[in-house]
Amino acid sequence: EKGGYDYFMLKEIAEQPKAVADTLLGRIDAAGSLTLDEVRISTAELREVDKVVIVACGTAFHAGLIAKYAIEHWTRIPCEVELASEFRYRDPILDPRTLVIAISQSGETMDTLMALRHAREQGSKVLAICNTNGSTIPRESDAVLYTHAGPEVAVASTKAFLTQLVACYLVALYLGQVRGTKWGDEIRAVIRDLSKISQEVERVLKTMEPVRELARSLATKNTVLFLGRHVGYPVALEGALKLKELAYMHAEGFAAGELKHGPIALIEKDLPVVVVVPSPRGRSVLHDKIVSNIQEIRARGARTIVIAEEGDEAVAPYADHLIRIPATPTLLQPLVATVPLQVFACELATARGNEVDQPRNLAKSVTVE
Ligand code: M6R
Repeated sequence: EKGGYDYFMLKEIAEQPKAVADTLLGRIDAAGSLTLDEVRISTAELREVDKVVIVACGTAFHAGLIAKYAIEHWTRIPCEVELASEFRYRDPILDPRTLVIAISQSGETMDTLMALRHAREQGSKVLAICNTNGSTIPRESDAVLYTHAGPEVAVASTKAFLTQLVACYLVALYLGQVRGTKWGDEIRAVIRDLSKISQEVERVLKTMEPVRELARSLATKNTVLFLGRHVGYPVALEGALKLKELAYMHAEGFAAGELKHGPIALIEKDLPVVVVVPSPRGRSVLHDKIVSNIQEIRARGARTIVIAEEGDEAVAPYADHLIRIPATPTLLQPLVATVPLQVFACELATARGNEVDQPRNLAKSVTVE
């Protein structure tokens, strides 16, 4: 049951370190290489892949957006990510050398199922990333990589998302390993970092009290904006989705570079804006640009809520609220940066008197198109 927590969502947020570790279990060998035996698409076929297409909905779609950065960086294979509900209606270009990845917690989402059926009809191989053993999507796919998050009961996806990310990283790294790209050393280093990441997620969970306090103080607001860059952009989208579905607030995620192309007009006094800051080490140019974005919105009176790595001092003067996350390799940052946003949305929903586990109008698995 709820294991002493008030809501399944709180329990599932707390289970994330274990869920992440379980998804990695048995998939990294003693030599630090990946062994994804269950991916029953031959290595010869994987070497032939010339395009990856990811289809998914909602939170799983956000995992796919992050996967694109990892796949293209580590494998140099072009990768598209598409909302499953749009995919088959635009006559997508697919052939036997296209690897389609369908991501779904439930394995029963009709939009995703119809997208994968369409892909297989065109001769593409489909790899499912799924949390539910024996569900329809993995049954109809050529191969499946299960996320081992355990049952997710709350409608808002949390631990399933983190484990989808882990599975996506594994696929990206595995493709890189099989195809032998120039990033060999980096791939080995990231596999090592990934094997320690569950402790970092645990560490984030221990520092969430100020985030809960902040969420309660915003309970009467109408709008919250989320900004990010690089992999922080899908994290911003995910933070906004969580807030919509749980707190029933107007929430939007933007790529911070787009601000000046329109959204900055929304900034007004006291508007809460959450900013996910990239590591100052990895993509330092982006870091500097986002620091300027924070200055710009603060100059217009926004209340800045900044999620930044430990040790990143450059952001501190412009943050009305500073949420620290552990330093991780750039591409892995979403695993730690998403957690405060989940806690934030859950606490805001509670403060607004909403039903956390069963938000209005939503179902855990969406089996209609
Ligand atoms: O079961 P699936 O992963 O296929 O579900 C996809 C979406 O319906 C799901 O992620 C939805 O967006 C969640 N309620 C988000 O928290």
